[in-house]
Amino acid sequence: MQTHEIARRFTDHFTGTGHTRVASASLILDDPTLLFVNAGMVQFKPYFLGDAPAPYPRATSIQKCVRTGDIDEVGRTTRHNTFFQMAGNFSFGDYFKEGAIEHAWRLITSSTSDGGYGLDPDRIWVTVFHDDDEAAGLWQRIAGIPAERIQRRGMADNYWSMGVAGPCGPCSEIYYDRGPQYGREGGPVVDEDRYLEIWNLVFMEKERAAGGTKDDFPIIGELPAKNIDTGLGIERVAYLLQGVDNVYETDLVRPVITRAEELSGRRYGASHEDDVRFRVIADHARSGVMIIGDGVTPSNDGRGYVLRRLLRRIVRSSRLLGVQEPVLGAFAEVVRDEMAPSYPELVTDFERISAVVRAEEEAFLQTLTAGSRIFDVAVADTRRAGGTTLAGDQAFQLHDTYGFPIDLTLEMAAEAGLTVDQDRFAALMTEQRTRAKADAAARKTGHHDGSVYRPLLDAHGTTTFLGYTELAAEGTVVGLVVDGAAVPAASEGQQVEVVLDRTPFYAEAGGQQADHGVLRTGSAIVRIDDVQSPVAGLRVHRGTVEAGTVAVDDAVVAEVDVARRASISRAHTATHLVHAGVRGALGTAAAQAGSLNAPGRLRFDFTSPSGAVPAAALAEIEEEVNTKLQENREVETYETSMDEARRLGAMMLFGEKYGDRVRVVDMGDYSRELCGGTHVARTGELGIVKVLSEASIGSGVRRVEALVGNDALRQVSTEHLLLSQISDQLKARPDELPDRIAALVERLRTAERDLEKHRADAALGAAGALADGAEDVAGIALVAVAAPAGVSGNDLRALAADVRGRLGDRPGVVALFGTDGDKVSFVVATTAAARDRGLAAGKLIPAFAPAVGGRGGGKPDLAQGGGQNPAGVPDAIAALRSALAAG
Ligand code: ALA
Repeated sequence: MQTHEIARRFTDHFTGTGHTRVASASLILDDPTLLFVNAGMVQFKPYFLGDAPAPYPRATSIQKCVRTGDIDEVGRTTRHNTFFQMAGNFSFGDYFKEGAIEHAWRLITSSTSDGGYGLDPDRIWVTVFHDDDEAAGLWQRIAGIPAERIQRRGMADNYWSMGVAGPCGPCSEIYYDRGPQYGREGGPVVDEDRYLEIWNLVFMEKERAAGGTKDDFPIIGELPAKNIDTGLGIERVAYLLQGVDNVYETDLVRPVITRAEELSGRRYGASHEDDVRFRVIADHARSGVMIIGDGVTPSNDGRGYVLRRLLRRIVRSSRLLGVQEPVLGAFAEVVRDEMAPSYPELVTDFERISAVVRAEEEAFLQTLTAGSRIFDVAVADTRRAGGTTLAGDQAFQLHDTYGFPIDLTLEMAAEAGLTVDQDRFAALMTEQRTRAKADAAARKTGHHDGSVYRPLLDAHGTTTFLGYTELAAEGTVVGLVVDGAAVPAASEGQQVEVVLDRTPFYAEAGGQQADHGVLRTGSAIVRIDDVQSPVAGLRVHRGTVEAGTVAVDDAVVAEVDVARRASISRAHTATHLVHAGVRGALGTAAAQAGSLNAPGRLRFDFTSPSGAVPAAALAEIEEEVNTKLQENREVETYETSMDEARRLGAMMLFGEKYGDRVRVVDMGDYSRELCGGTHVARTGELGIVKVLSEASIGSGVRRVEALVGNDALRQVSTEHLLLSQISDQLKARPDELPDRIAALVERLRTAERDLEKHRADAALGAAGALADGAEDVAGIALVAVAAPAGVSGNDLRALAADVRGRLGDRPGVVALFGTDGDKVSFVVATTAAARDRGLAAGKLIPAFAPAVGGRGGGKPDLAQGGGQNPAGVPDAIAALRSALAAG
């Protein structure tokens, strides 16, 4: 049975039993505790916790999931995967254990002709939490599973949570016996290879706090209702039903390996080493493409770093399979073709996806070439010194200068039989990070983790945001934090974080900077200069108490700095217009990769498949955007369903918040985007948008910067002023300036060349006089003098050779000293007749060089050197003279 069919049957089974079908959430959900969505229940978390009412009593989904904890293990075994699809059915206070077991049992054991998976009931084993007699009893009663195939396990295996604070509960796992060729008898407690877990039913009824370990964590209470959360591994069922041994050989994954076989000319299954590489490619290509599909671009931290690692491991593995050409585009195509039936957006977004992988591969291949050389030298040095550990400093240099991810260095070192001093590396990284990020980090997260805010969220719920329509509003202080600890009150002069029940303040998000403003209570004023959302749903106002004392439960009037907000909103609207303009000019592969909306200015980062944006295209984009301002379009914002937003063609990249309602910012057919930010009412309010620059910020990502409104106007005026000043100075009209300046630069160059030539000529012209002034020392013509000022280097050598030439066939020695600040350079030249008498230039140097505090050397006819003591030149000359006199 094909993988897509397995997913389809799952969905049919549950929609047929009253479950609402919910689309997979993006891999990137707005949950600060998760890098990637890693279970079907993530998008439903607020319903389990009771933070939001469930819109349906039961639901079903096929969720794309990424788990990246074991990247290093991928490929080495056939069990690890970073991407998989979790099929789930969910009950929000509707059915519980009995219903969950009934539904699952029916689907897996119904015959394939009845729409089920047709698994043999006699080969199914289950586990339950150690004291869950109820579940054990239900398995016997409903499924007729004999007691000996029901095993009990403890917290670590049969009590599920997300590993962080949130919903949890005992679970019951369903296993399938693959047969004696896969391992030992005795059920899943004995061998989880032979007994393969396919489905986990979680009886979600409790809430846990953060902390603890996998088999012992704090459970703090009951959830408002008893719920069901299940997860069936689609890929695992696929390999059972397709009669293959592992996920790599299933219908959706094997084609990537086949492509790698074609490209490399090697065969999967021929050697363990190559098989590891084939599997790395197959697994990472899939997760890489799916992650990019959800809007992540490669970068050096967070999700972007994971993506970078995945993509780079593919390229490295391909190299090790002997493929030199770029490969990522080819693998991405295979993934697209295999996954598109379930994820059609891979087709519509493919241009962008392939632009991202191609740019990353290009960047990496450069890194790889430069870094590999350095790496090889480092390895050779280490070996020569008899060591087995690559120095942490070298790993750091590879990282810092050549962009080598540490994991790559570790892998390559392991391949070379070496380890890496990771402690030292980590120490250097920390040093660097601390330096670079201290400010930014402190600003974002404050001085602490989220634990101080979570109780506020639990006690008071999310902060109601009024700022789309209000800029001043009344609210109540529900929490105060000073230096990372909750406090009842804060007084004049203190830095404080204030949480209100409702606020008009916008917290930094989606590239839009935070509002500033003041909070006033009856007796206190708090000036706010930052607003962040360290825990989803909570808005934390940061500022200083300027007067009085602010206390929890105080009523406040919150007033946003209106001018700043207006200016930021103008920038944000402008960003949407620039986004639309860029896409219009460059095509849909130019997708947003980041943005900043600050007062009066914006930054828009996007993936560019074709490199730099030509100046003419940039000018056109700017003009088009400004035309939209003149059209004074209405900027509409509305909430709608995700499906409707998709139908309207709204641009979306990152997963929206929980649930299906999304906010659209709509400027008619020109620009329509999902966005939670604030905007102007009509585009005319922007006044003018001035594009300043366009440049690469690495890995195929380009950045446009622009100014908006008065900031743009000021920029234009300043430039205008500068231009008139230059125009005055050069006595040329502005339109003549480029030619005029080019001509000036050319004249300057010619003049410099002439000057240089004159200087050299003059210096060389001294040769005749110098030769004429030769003294006779024991029958040798000696010219030993300080060279004319400004003669050094090549000129000094040329002058010495010239003087020597003028000494003809006399035995002669020329020694010229050039000084430059506190440095001396010297050249010694000998004629052929002098050499015949045994005078070699190089050998003469030790006789006088110490006098100028230096040394040198060279051939018998010409030698040179330098020293640090210009004052010693006369002594040096005297020393040379005596040496010659002494024969
Ligand atoms: N949430 C459960 C899991 O991930 C079903 O295993």
